[in-house]
Amino acid sequence: MLPPVEQTKYLLDESELPRQWVNVRAEMPNPTLPILHPGTGEPVGPDDLAPLFPMEIILQEVSEEPEIAIPQEVLDIYRMWRPTPLYRAHRLEQAVGTRSRIFYKYEGTSPAGSHKPNTAVAQAFYNKREGRKRLSTETGAGQWGSALAFACKLLDLECKVYMVRASYDQKPFRRSMIQTWGASIVASPSEETESGRAILAEHPDSPGSLGIAISEAVEDAAGREDTAYSLGSVLNHVLLHQTVIGQEALAQMELAGAFPDVVIGCVGGGSNFAGLAFPFLREKIAGRDIDVLACEPAACPTLTRGLFAYDFGDTSKLTPLVPMHTLGHDFIPEPIHAGGLRYHGVAPLISQLVLDGLMRADAYLQNDVFASAVLFAGHEGIVPAPEAAHAIHGALETARAADEAGEQKTILFNLSGHGHFDMAAYDNYFAGKLVDVALEEEEIQRALAAIEGLPVPA
Ligand SMILES: Cc1ncc(COP(=O)(O)O)c(C=O)c1O
Repeated sequence: MLPPVEQTKYLLDESELPRQWVNVRAEMPNPTLPILHPGTGEPVGPDDLAPLFPMEIILQEVSEEPEIAIPQEVLDIYRMWRPTPLYRAHRLEQAVGTRSRIFYKYEGTSPAGSHKPNTAVAQAFYNKREGRKRLSTETGAGQWGSALAFACKLLDLECKVYMVRASYDQKPFRRSMIQTWGASIVASPSEETESGRAILAEHPDSPGSLGIAISEAVEDAAGREDTAYSLGSVLNHVLLHQTVIGQEALAQMELAGAFPDVVIGCVGGGSNFAGLAFPFLREKIAGRDIDVLACEPAACPTLTRGLFAYDFGDTSKLTPLVPMHTLGHDFIPEPIHAGGLRYHGVAPLISQLVLDGLMRADAYLQNDVFASAVLFAGHEGIVPAPEAAHAIHGALETARAADEAGEQKTILFNLSGHGHFDMAAYDNYFAGKLVDVALEEEEIQRALAAIEGLPVPA
């Protein structure tokens, strides 16, 4: 038999599925700042959020419990694809000639093709239990919209998806998938909401953004008794639900007889990154030496060039004020192909961990990211989602730097989804049509002017 570290796949039995979510809030050296009501400037309370979210989710948002039990009904659905595999990238390591070991956790085996169902199922479950009949949401890449449509189908809820126009046009088959699971879908900005109409009046050709689509979905939910809003990233409860990823990965790395020196994920709103990293960060906070790296697009460099400030989560200023790194709520990133990373803000938990020096971030250009995606696919077989390819690129850069320094690292990254609906982006890359967007400092300063006058973090 091969020694454990030579193995390629590390698989867990269904009986080893984590029974709880890990709440990093309970371990953080500094708490996150409260989310504020934009009218009063006071922290929002459960009653402010009740029109949009079920109470169980609101309680999870503010929970200080270190672990939260996963309901049996959610576990029964997770079992359809979880635990997901962890791979050792032997062939990629050989191809690039690194001395480092590269492992990846693969979330693309879910029915929707990414990590997103981990929270979609939990959110649909709590909404159903509290009597909601319908959920509204935004989607960037289409992965989140697919995941929520899938979860709503299984739990017999209606689902309405506002899909960012750029992705809606780039990915017609994500639309079909969302409809296959019974949800209705419209391109955002749309004529169906006041927010959408206002943006279209000013910018009829708007490519949309996650911030705009969030405005539309929040407005939809706020206007209907039977409807709650569901967010695919950023908020504490979403990151919490994703921690099944890292808990499984910890057990799988143990099977491999290894522990990562570096843990890597791509960051849009921060949920897949947190899902992998938070269970490891718990170990780091307890004193273990781990480098934790978030990878983002240079066209939307929230963590590397944004300001830590209070800002709206959406473009039309319908959400509470969130303490986070932001590029400004009216920043519209270029329509790069990693649609799920085109968000002006990021999860407050991640911002706080960056401020506390517990993790760091780096930003990459899309042609470099696609080169790494193609290299990866050529040796590991899986065609990655463009978002996930940022983590691949981060892992390869980390391995390269280690080789140059004469070091040998154990690297673990999250392959958050497959790219089977992203082949138009690959086509554009092969045709040399991808533009590397060097975001000008003036544009960042212009967009940040939108947050002037908002409360400033103490
Ligand atoms: C495959 C994939 N990875 C990553 C992301 C980014 O989201 P998050 O930062 O919440 O993981 C998305 C978002 O749509 C996605 O589809």
